[in-house]
Amino acid sequence: MEFIVKETDEDTLFRLVLGLVVPRPIGWVSSLSPEGIPNLAPFSFFNAVNDCPPVLMVSVSDRDDGTPKDTVRNILATGEFVVNLVSEELFDKMLITSKEFPPEVNEFEEAGLSPEESRFVKAPRVGESKVSFECKLYKHMKVYDMHLILGEALLIRVRDNILDEEGKVIYERYKPIGRLGGKFYLRTFRDCLLEG
Ligand SMILES: Cc1cc2nc3c(=O)[nH]c(=O)nc-3n(C[C@H](O)[C@H](O)[C@H](O)COP(=O)(O)O)c2cc1C
Repeated sequence: MEFIVKETDEDTLFRLVLGLVVPRPIGWVSSLSPEGIPNLAPFSFFNAVNDCPPVLMVSVSDRDDGTPKDTVRNILATGEFVVNLVSEELFDKMLITSKEFPPEVNEFEEAGLSPEESRFVKAPRVGESKVSFECKLYKHMKVYDMHLILGEALLIRVRDNILDEEGKVIYERYKPIGRLGGKFYLRTFRDCLLEG
């Protein structure tokens, strides 16, 4: 089957891209509004694009009414954010934070998560996350309707002994989850045991 993009409707392209480019990691982005209200939301158009220094990307759509999501508004206003990674036990809480709450709602409170003070940025980290990257905005650009946000990490916080003595990741302890299309997610630990 072939889909000529110019002749394919938006919904089909959405389903193809999100269902086929998988599994995607989930960047759980915490930011702070100029008024000081913490915000937290997950994004699976997310990845690393450089390692030294670490540069991460998230790609964020506008809301249906055309206004930017709180994450984009906060990052553009403050130039800072934290990308937290999502392990299996945080799955339900991550889903709660994906709801469209108004800007004055603090998603940490809604999901029962602990905001933890960051070292290099004002936005709080997710205390329960095993991995957090404290980032300053490196670049913002539009890719068609999406906001592509690139963040340069100033600090990587790694918790819970998920690194061995050589600094290699112990996936049994990290247990990151991956995003598939539709309602589906992967427990990457159980599925990561192909060694190459
Ligand atoms: C697993 C998951 C991945 C998501 N990935 C994206 C994404 O890559 N880009 C996006 O714009 N929205 C994505 N969303 C939806 C946002 O999380 C949602 O719009 C959220 O309300 C934005 O919050 P904010 O207004 O506080 O920034 C995703 C939701 C879930 C549950």
